Amino acid sequence: MMQVPCHIGIIMDGNGRWAQRRGRPRTDGHLEGLKTARRIVESANRLGICYLTLYVFSTENWKRAESEVNFILGLVKRYLVAELDYYRKDRLRVRFAGDMAGLPPEIAVEVRKACEDTKDYDGMNVVLALNYGGRDEIVRAVCKAAAAGKEITGELIAANLDNPDVPDPDLIIRTAGEFRISNFLLWEGAYAEYYISDALWPDWTEENLKDAITSYAKRERKFGAIVK
Ligand code: FPP
Repeated sequence: MMQVPCHIGIIMDGNGRWAQRRGRPRTDGHLEGLKTARRIVESANRLGICYLTLYVFSTENWKRAESEVNFILGLVKRYLVAELDYYRKDRLRVRFAGDMAGLPPEIAVEVRKACEDTKDYDGMNVVLALNYGGRDEIVRAVCKAAAAGKEITGELIAANLDNPDVPDPDLIIRTAGEFRISNFLLWEGAYAEYYISDALWPDWTEENLKDAITSYAKRERKFGAIVK
């Protein structure tokens, strides 16, 4: 039996390039990227993944043109509303990672609703990283820990991250060929395996996901130790 990672994180990159190569606006790439997200959620669930974290919008993405930011956030809202029935059917749990306070209220309300409506489901967890930055998450965790007046330890920081009960990612995938972590799961990804795919996110299929998992399964994980 192939070793399937329990938690996969995905940096969904290449939407803009996908659209530009077709002479279409960048927003078309994001729309196609949304369809891919649906496809890959289904595939990951079918393949037995327990946690899937999708990097939807970073704390740095606010620097993009306002029209593009609004388009992506609009897609998120549409996704949350449209997919809820599917999430119910497959008992998928929606979770959130990021700074909720910095989200537009109309998006925050839908995110909270999706998380609340699915919180008792025992299927795959889909963690939406939204207004998310790894450094920002660590800073918020340290502030919460400091406010509790206790000695700051690694365990205390980990216990104050956005989803302390979600296991660390085993595999972090980045699409569109870039070898960068871009502020994604900095604390949690300390011992993750990384997989870079040249395919652009809108072109991603279940086959790409299977290739990533096969590559992961061949690796020997050492967590800093020596394996004889
Ligand atoms: C990176 O491509 C993609 C994003 C910043 C947005 C990701 C959003 C989606 C896939 C849609 C929403 C998904 C869900 C699950 C709600 P890029 O624009 O940086 O591409 P480029 O590097 O080619 O320009």
